[in-house]
Amino acid sequence: MLGPPGAGKGTQARVLQDRLGVPQIASGDLLRAAARDRSTLGLNAKRYMDRGSLVPDEVVLKLIAARLHESDAAAGFILDGFPRTREQAEALATMLKDSGALDRVIALNVPDEEIIKRISGRRTCRNCGEMYHLVFDPPRNQDHCNECNSELYQRDDDSEDTLRMRLQVYVAETRPLLEYYQRQGILTQVDGIGRPEEVAGRILKQLGVDGAKLAAAKKGAQP
Ligand code: AP5
Repeated sequence: MLGPPGAGKGTQARVLQDRLGVPQIASGDLLRAAARDRSTLGLNAKRYMDRGSLVPDEVVLKLIAARLHESDAAAGFILDGFPRTREQAEALATMLKDSGALDRVIALNVPDEEIIKRISGRRTCRNCGEMYHLVFDPPRNQDHCNECNSELYQRDDDSEDTLRMRLQVYVAETRPLLEYYQRQGILTQVDGIGRPEEVAGRILKQLGVDGAKLAAAKKGAQP
């Protein structure tokens, strides 16, 4: 899943995970988990994340390579927020050369004014990671998760200044990947505006799959 901050990559990757039966692998989530564990890698990464810069490629690649080797990723996966630089894209191609290349790259198109609304209202559960939006998808009980009743928080990098930096970094470092994957013939651009279910419907249509049938087939294929 490619797209600017707040485009809905995480929201849509979670829908696809349920519909397709393969795990969402989000580089941002892996980095935030490392920071929560207070590992040296995680604490170094947090310094970059808090100012809206990209974490160095070698750090991200190490985390992604380890995650792709976990057994639940053997039948496929949905990458969310990775790759983000040409170097990461080329390293990913090398990692996948024996198991098969990426099937598809979905790029979500959302204008900046909508991104600002989405990011400023986002709240995330500290315990299970479930995501909400104060206006578009509010929790039933203010400040608490519908699923596990834990506290909701606003991400440290969702401040206005840091978001501005993240948008600039997206344009400079990540948007060129659209052309990179276009040249490979695997890029599909999807309008990210509308209710999350509508956006998910567009993605599934573009993938040309019946999500329910594919999930059953994947489960059957697992050892
Ligand atoms: P990361 O966590 O990947 O953040 P991001 O790419 O900036 O994307 P977001 O998570 O902010 O947004 P999203 O597109 O997933 O949208 P979401 O679904 O949450 O990265 C954070 C940082 O980690 C980076 O800045 C960098 O420092 C580092 N990092 C991560 N990966 C890296 C890499 N590969 N290399 C180097 N550094 C890396 O939706 C946002 C909100 O909108 C939510 O509230 C949601 O409920 C709402 N919403 C979603 N869809 C809709 C809709 N259709 N309508 C209305 N509201 C919606």
